[in-house]
Amino acid sequence: MKLDAVAAAMVAVDRADFVTSDWREHAAEDRPLPIGLGQTNSQPRTVANMLRLLEVLPGHHVLDVGAGSGWTTALLAHLVGPDGSVIGVELEPALAEWGAGNLASYPMPWARLLPARPETLGWPDEAPYDCILVSAQAPALPPSLVEQLRPGGIMVIPVRSIMLRVQTTDEGSPEVTRHGGYRFVPLR
Ligand SMILES: C[S@@+](CC[C@H](N)C(=O)[O-])C[C@H]1O[C@@H](n2cnc3c(N)ncnc32)[C@H](O)[C@@H]1O
Repeated sequence: MKLDAVAAAMVAVDRADFVTSDWREHAAEDRPLPIGLGQTNSQPRTVANMLRLLEVLPGHHVLDVGAGSGWTTALLAHLVGPDGSVIGVELEPALAEWGAGNLASYPMPWARLLPARPETLGWPDEAPYDCILVSAQAPALPPSLVEQLRPGGIMVIPVRSIMLRVQTTDEGSPEVTRHGGYRFVPLR
């Protein structure tokens, strides 16, 4: 059976490399796993659903908000390939350092994991992005992240427990579709 790109990325990037040693034997289980500081490495089925909604292609320039362990950053890096680029940002400095170390164990220098700046949502410095993945739940669709999408770009973000797919029009306004209920840690 031929795997789609998302399934192939999940085979190529081993989740066990993105959890702490005491949780490694649980890495194949379809549930969120704790990564410290009250945060989690997300449930694999949820991540796969989000990545499929995001429609990442080789060569894309992608932002990963809430990069945590680095797993989603590595999955996105596999999907964009060496002609693309991925920037992961993580608000907890200790997680950002650990996640960057996890990511560095994969030879994908077109992906970086950086500490987020607390006063700035996303990473406007290198906008616009083809795709933005947000792995933490927002109380409302953040306009500042919509502004970081290129026209026609796609963002996947949980808002008030509903997974939203947001695609900007040529004029930059967001067209939103809803894709089911999910629980996430809060976007801060
Ligand atoms: C579900 S967890 C990590 C999931 C991650 N993608 C992974 O693969 O491990 C979500 C992360 O979002 C981070 N976070 C929350 N608000 C953020 C913000 N404004 N900017 C960047 N990261 C944020 C949290 O610290 C947490 O580590």
